[in-house]
Amino acid sequence: MLECVNVRAYRGGTLVFDGLDLCIEKGQNTAIIGPNGSGKSTLLKLLSREIYPVDDPASRLLVYGRDRWNVEELRSMLGIVSNDLQQEYGRHSPGRNVILSGYYASIDTWPHQQFSPPELTRAEVLMHRLGIADLADRPFGTMSTGQQRRFLLGRAMVHAPEALVLDEPTSGLDLPATFRYIDTIRRLMRSGTQIILVTHHMHEIPPEVTRIVFIRDGRIFASGDKEALLTSEAVSELFGCPVDVMCCNGFYQAVPSSSGEYDAGDGM
Ligand SMILES: Nc1ncnc2c1ncn2[C@@H]1O[C@H](COP(=O)(O)OP(=O)(O)O)[C@@H](O)[C@H]1O
Ligand SMILES: [Mg+2]
Repeated sequence: MLECVNVRAYRGGTLVFDGLDLCIEKGQNTAIIGPNGSGKSTLLKLLSREIYPVDDPASRLLVYGRDRWNVEELRSMLGIVSNDLQQEYGRHSPGRNVILSGYYASIDTWPHQQFSPPELTRAEVLMHRLGIADLADRPFGTMSTGQQRRFLLGRAMVHAPEALVLDEPTSGLDLPATFRYIDTIRRLMRSGTQIILVTHHMHEIPPEVTRIVFIRDGRIFASGDKEALLTSEAVSELFGCPVDVMCCNGFYQAVPSSSGEYDAGDGM
């Protein structure tokens, strides 16, 4: 699905990746974890072609085996959720239109866009499943962050993409909404949708995710099976602070270590 060889990429003036190597197989449900500013969002933007790597014959970035894409075509294969997308959305578009815009991977819907009865039905079903059917006519700008986030999740799923690319998808969601969303993406994974997930919350890594990638300072710090990497030792090393990781019902959770010191040493 994604092959990065010796990739170099900038955000604004910041060199985020300098020699990034990473392969994610098609179908491999993957969670990407790492400290703030380590390059997780940049990696997802490289994947969805929101940013491009530095052109160099010694480097390669392939998405589904191709280095050139019609961006529209690629985005129709992906379902994307990110904070940036949430910021871009028009304040006035009703919730239903936010979901429907997923069929065209557009921001908002446009008069020339047509929706078939099954497409409209699927949008309604998704809104019910995400618990937002009563907000279908509400302008996006008047919703809470968590409500907006649920509409973006619906937008990302409505066109049955090959893969969901989720950058901190549950930020702003309450627990029931988080669990409902987890349930929905588990269902999608079981029916063959691939998930690439960036998260700080271990408990939202569903059991179906098998591969973990740790990123730190623009480098792959570690990569491998979930059982091997979601351990107290490995996660503590990644973040450079003591973390206790536990597993329950196939889900993980990270809590402060009982022996840990988290004082920044600034006397506050
Ligand atoms: N628009 C931007 N302009 C300049 N630097 C940026 C921009 N966006 C992100 N960065 C920098 O790029 C690095 C990686 O950012 P990002 O991929 O967003 O990290 P993460 O998602 O892991 O928190 C950080 O050092 C961040 O400050
Ligand atoms: Mg980020």
